[in-house]
Amino acid sequence: MLDKKIYELINDQINKELYSAYLYLDFSNYYEEAGLQGFSNWYYVQAQEERDHAMLFLKYLQNNGHKIVLKEIAKPDKELKDNFTPLKEGLKHEQYVTSLINNIYSAANEVKDFRTIQFLDWFVKEQGEEETNADNLIKKMELFGNDAKSLYMLDNELKARVYTAPSLVL
Ligand code: FEO
Repeated sequence: MLDKKIYELINDQINKELYSAYLYLDFSNYYEEAGLQGFSNWYYVQAQEERDHAMLFLKYLQNNGHKIVLKEIAKPDKELKDNFTPLKEGLKHEQYVTSLINNIYSAANEVKDFRTIQFLDWFVKEQGEEETNADNLIKKMELFGNDAKSLYMLDNELKARVYTAPSLVL
């Protein structure tokens, strides 16, 4: 069994990851309505990845003999007023999630929970990639988003993103 605080933080993280999936579905829907199906696809895939993150946290708790307590998932509350907003909110959100992962990591370190630290290593790396991806998307949009033809091509590029199952298996 895990330390009580570690258990609670990870149980909460299930909810945070499901909220991330919900938030990115909202972004995906926004772009679908805006006629940008590539951006919509990109966030649809991202939502699937977030759901996977939630499942990994859930499985980790179960594998350690803990009961899962699912909580209410908050409604996505970001105001999506133009094609830039979801991208910027996405980066901010990933930075927030990184801080949550770091917080669990640091709590696990305090109680010398090396098993949890090893489990979290995958997420630390994943967060680095997710922040970079979110930042790259903003940069591309800043470069190409104001020209209709370039935006069309960028949107087409984003249609190519496909879902792959996480490399971490529990
Ligand atoms: Fe599960 Fe995007 O962090």
